[in-house]
Amino acid sequence: MSLKKLQSVGIELKNIDLSYGDTQVIKNVSLKINKGEFFAFLGPSGCGKSTLLRLIAGFEQCQNGEVFLGDEEVSRLPPWKRNVGMVFQNYALWPHMTIWKNVSFGLEERKLPHNEINQRVNDALELVGLQDYAQRRPNQLSGGQQQRVALARTIVIEPRVLLLDEPLSNLDAKLRVHMRQELLELQRKLGLTTIFVTHDQEEANTTSDRIAVLQDGIVQQVGSPMDLYDKPENLFVAQFLGSANVLKGKIKTEGNDAIFEGEQGLKVSLSNCDAEGSKSIIFRPQNIFLCEQGSGEADLNGIVKKREFLGNLVRYEIQVDQQQILVDEIYGLGKEPAEEGMQVGLSMDSDHVIIM
Ligand SMILES: Nc1ncnc2c1ncn2[C@@H]1O[C@H](COP(=O)(O)OP(=O)(O)OP(=O)(O)O)[C@@H](O)[C@H]1O
Ligand SMILES: [Mg+2]
Repeated sequence: MSLKKLQSVGIELKNIDLSYGDTQVIKNVSLKINKGEFFAFLGPSGCGKSTLLRLIAGFEQCQNGEVFLGDEEVSRLPPWKRNVGMVFQNYALWPHMTIWKNVSFGLEERKLPHNEINQRVNDALELVGLQDYAQRRPNQLSGGQQQRVALARTIVIEPRVLLLDEPLSNLDAKLRVHMRQELLELQRKLGLTTIFVTHDQEEANTTSDRIAVLQDGIVQQVGSPMDLYDKPENLFVAQFLGSANVLKGKIKTEGNDAIFEGEQGLKVSLSNCDAEGSKSIIFRPQNIFLCEQGSGEADLNGIVKKREFLGNLVRYEIQVDQQQILVDEIYGLGKEPAEEGMQVGLSMDSDHVIIM
């Protein structure tokens, strides 16, 4: 199995409503996940990520809507008839069984021939680099190794899709970064359609082909990590995918130009803008620069409230009237960093302004 591509399928959710008692936790969710895709559910705690995953695996039932695996509607099928692999957040390994037994258990349940079980367990353990640990028990392994056992145990049944519920959250920061790369390599090798649940935007960005951002049981937006960052459709997505400055104001048209007039006296001309009236604009900290106060370049004036040295970057918090604006500048380009308390100007890169 080590290099064989699995028979994977796409996943489709159509108009899913799911309630626990009177509380609706999934609200009209429709999503299409392509065959072979690494897809993330990203959102804050309680937004419904695990519920959606359990629904796909068959551990939850929706009141309305349909779940498809490939062309097959599986909405009413029990979990064991779906051939879906799910890795739970706490791994759920059996503590009294060896690693080998943990991995072979699902195949023995399926009453496969002995030779085939041996072969598949060997292959799965090799795939996650644990062939030398087969006779240990879970408590004799590190967190990262246990996580790999949970993966091997899921992959060994040759599932059609792989569902991962915050699989890295128990690991320390360094191991998490390492394991997410391993996971991605494994997924690519097997060509296995994968949904990865996380509330960590960096984790979603670095692994996923596409991300669905969820809030309060509603899909806010679906897109590639860069699309979501560059073209967020609402404030929630903009702020969840990274630091964002928000300014309120009005857009007016003057001839062929659209001008944004901010409450702080900011005036920027916007290209390709057909919006008008009261709007907010959003821009990232790297799309605004410090300059001399009152100079021709300055779109805004303010005072440096706080400066953080992050190694490659210097992050400034600039107070402009009642508002704080974050500015990131690359460190070491020959420009002298501004000091806290200094009066500064701010120059905006209007090509990277997002209009809400
Ligand atoms: N069995 C249940 N009965 C009642 N309410 C539930 C049940 N399971 C989950 N919920 C509620 O449904 C909502 C969604 O829960 P879910 O576990 O899907 O969130 P999540 O996005 O996975 O959050 P987290 O990041 O904290 O794991 C929450 O408000 C939760 O309290
Ligand atoms: Mg969860």
